[in-house]
Amino acid sequence: MAHLIRQYSLEPGAVEIEYMEQYFDEFRRKKTAQEIIERLNGREHLILIALASAQDDVDHMVPVAFKVGHELQSSETDPKLRDLVERLSTCVCFTGRKVFYGWIGGTRKEWRGRGHYRALTEQQEEWAERRGFHELVVKTKNRFYPMRATLDHMHFDVVKFEPHAYDNGESKVYMSKKLLPSMIDEHKTMRTVEEAA
Ligand SMILES: CC(C)(COP(=O)(O)OP(=O)(O)OC[C@H]1O[C@@H](n2cnc3c(N)ncnc32)[C@H](O)[C@@H]1OP(=O)(O)O)[C@@H](O)C(=O)NCCC(=O)NCCS
Repeated sequence: MAHLIRQYSLEPGAVEIEYMEQYFDEFRRKKTAQEIIERLNGREHLILIALASAQDDVDHMVPVAFKVGHELQSSETDPKLRDLVERLSTCVCFTGRKVFYGWIGGTRKEWRGRGHYRALTEQQEEWAERRGFHELVVKTKNRFYPMRATLDHMHFDVVKFEPHAYDNGESKVYMSKKLLPSMIDEHKTMRTVEEAA
């Protein structure tokens, strides 16, 4: 069965993502809509939410997974993004290439293991490849085992490991995938994508 994915424009999307983040106890500091708008405004970005039947009512569709990403340029001036570009500069080439950063995402606990995150990731890859991006990079932490396993299943390569001074679970893992047209043919999920009203 096809996964139903909704693509959002900036302001309504940011509000939806703020709402979605409340369901994740893995995220210590939840993103606010304002923070999301400030990050994405003025740069190429993609806000996707997967919908599925509510647990107690198959006819009622609810948001179950989300994924937000944006363009990352070598000329970033925002301190957080500047820092990210510097850390990536040893393993990702920005010169003459478009790099997409898979910023945040997740699947609500009750809906995990049903392919929702793969569907969102494949949709993000397809969208980014069509818009001329060459590479998709993500950052996670050593302790996020399900996320590392998921990215591994989707053939992201580890491109950098930054050990934390005293807590290895907090060590940073940078992963990347080159975006090629042939990769789209290997996608496994069927997806219906609609634009949010
Ligand atoms: C990681 C996460 C997004 C996976 O979402 P999901 O919807 O359950 O993932 P999917 O069902 O789409 O699985 C995608 C692939 O990853 C694999 N996978 C997913 N969870 C896995 C796990 N815990 N262990 C091993 N493999 C796993 C699946 O088998 C699947 O592989 P396949 O398509 O080749 O069969 C979800 O567990 C989550 O939201 N975790 C919390 C978020 C988080 O840790 N964020 C860290 C910040 S970076």
